[in-house]
Amino acid sequence: MNWNAKFATGIGTIDAQHRRLFEICGELQDLAEKAKTEDRYEQIRLVLKDLTDYTVAHFGLEEKYMQESGYSERDYAYHKMEHDAFVAKVSKILDGDWEDNQHQTVSKLLVFVTAWIKAHILDTDMKYVATLKAKGYK
Ligand SMILES: [Fe+2]
Repeated sequence: MNWNAKFATGIGTIDAQHRRLFEICGELQDLAEKAKTEDRYEQIRLVLKDLTDYTVAHFGLEEKYMQESGYSERDYAYHKMEHDAFVAKVSKILDGDWEDNQHQTVSKLLVFVTAWIKAHILDTDMKYVATLKAKGYK
């Protein structure tokens, strides 16, 4: 899964972080392939931990920007709810029992994560862009 211009919000820090999220998904995709035939449990755990930590930090920054810029409370609450649900879902899988089921678990997770990130950027993140830009974020 590759980042491309249609995902650009035009806000530098956010776009850089979104690119990194796509990269982490790419790492996960490689490991999922290898896990078809090899034990990659520890590596996958590390990348999933990275994904969780990185999304938590990234969502925190977006939420800070939305609050600082006076973004509507209602839209903020909805946006934060999407973030929290994502973190809860990935954390739950990470904490589950999937060592004997690595390829299937990670492949399934990737379908969810990649679809979620794309739809979230295009539908939910894009909604704060005008407000942030009006406040001088770039
Ligand atoms: Fe977001």
